[in-house]
Amino acid sequence: MTYQWIKAFHIIAVIAWMAGMLYLPRLFVYHCAAEKGSVQSETFKIMERRLLRAIMNPAMIATWLLGLWLAWLGPDSHYGWFASPWLQAKIVLVLVLSAMHGMVAYWVKDFGADRNPHSQRLYRIINEVPTILMIGIVLLAVLKPF
Ligand code: HEM
Repeated sequence: MTYQWIKAFHIIAVIAWMAGMLYLPRLFVYHCAAEKGSVQSETFKIMERRLLRAIMNPAMIATWLLGLWLAWLGPDSHYGWFASPWLQAKIVLVLVLSAMHGMVAYWVKDFGADRNPHSQRLYRIINEVPTILMIGIVLLAVLKPF
């Protein structure tokens, strides 16, 4: 029963984290087009900072903690789920997603200081990466193919 509760909150945290990971690079695409110092640009700064601090950071931490807790409670009495290759592969993909989180957090700082070092095209491409990672992660978690 406890396990199912942890899993439910793990999925809730995942949804909140992914909402931010999918939306923040889209905000960067629009922010790029706004003139520096304009009201629009200042509004984007607030939206980006709040999305990162109020939703994405806590959601990523909760996803990790609850996921690791589930992994520790898994079927093997000694290693939980950690001995399962699907979880090992999943952790690799989640590490890539977390590195991306770090990168977009850095860009929020850049935009906050009116530095937009990358092209709109790059933000559009980056926008697709979390989607691809999410599909891989969910398929591994649900199908456990190995
Ligand atoms: C390193 C961080 C993470 C760890 C250690 C982890 C670990 C786990 C574990 C052990 C389960 C339980 C599997 C089961 O009972 O069948 C689980 C479930 C799940 N995880 Fe994660 N997870 C992490 C991050 C994520 C992320 C980032 C996503 C999605 C993008 C995700 C999506 C899911 C889903 C959808 C389930 C439900 C699977 C099912 O019940 O069939 N997890 N996770």
